[in-house]
Amino acid sequence: MPNLRIALFISGRGSNMRAILENVKNGTLTGITPVVVVSDAKNAEGLATAKAYGVETYYLDCAPFKTKLEGDAEDRIITLLRKRNVDLICLAGFMRMVKTGLLTAFTRRIINIHPSLLPQFPGLSAQKQALEAGVAESGCTVHFVDAGMDTGPIIRQSRVPVRKDDTLETLSRRILQAEHRLYSEVLADIANERVAIGVTSV
Ligand code: GRF
Repeated sequence: MPNLRIALFISGRGSNMRAILENVKNGTLTGITPVVVVSDAKNAEGLATAKAYGVETYYLDCAPFKTKLEGDAEDRIITLLRKRNVDLICLAGFMRMVKTGLLTAFTRRIINIHPSLLPQFPGLSAQKQALEAGVAESGCTVHFVDAGMDTGPIIRQSRVPVRKDDTLETLSRRILQAEHRLYSEVLADIANERVAIGVTSV
C-alpha cells in the first residue's frame, strides 16, 4: 500500500487536524504521513498542537488578500508542498478560498470538511443555518475542493440528528464529533485506494 503524504491546512483551533494526527500516532489510521501543517493565521491554536505531535508547521502569510489564497502566497505554498512531495492537501477549518494556481497544481488532490450535509448550507455558520432552517437532521461532508464555495464532488457524509432543544453549541459539538471520525475514515479510504485521488485515466 503506498504511503500517502498529506498537508493539513488550518486557520484556528485545529481539532480536525488533531484527530487525524492522533489517529496516525496511535495506529488507527495507517498509510498516511502528515508532513506539514499550514496555517494562514500566525497564532492559530492548531499550530502548537501540530508541534506537540512533532509535525512541521508553516505560517503562510496571505497578504494582501483577506479571504483567498492567491498570488505570491500561492506560489510559495506550491513550492513548499512540491518540495515535501505532498500527495494530498486536507483543508480542516482553513478559512480561505483556494484559487486556480493551487487547484491546477493539485488537481483532485485537495479535500475539505464542512459541517453540513452538502449541498445544504454551504459557506459560513453552517450549523446556524441548519438550526434556522429547522431541519431534523444535519451532519458533515468531506468533499473534493473546486473553485466554488463548498461545491466540489462529495466523497462521504455523516449524519447526526438535530434535536428540538439543540442550541448552536450542542449541535455544533455533535457535528464536530462526527467530523473527527469522518475525516479519518475518508483518509483511510484514500490510503486503501477505495477512493481515487488525482487525475485518473479513462
Ligand atoms: C469545522 O467545523 C470544519 O468543518 C469547518 O471549520 C471547523 C474547523 O474546526 N470547515 P477545527 O479547526 O478543525 O476545530
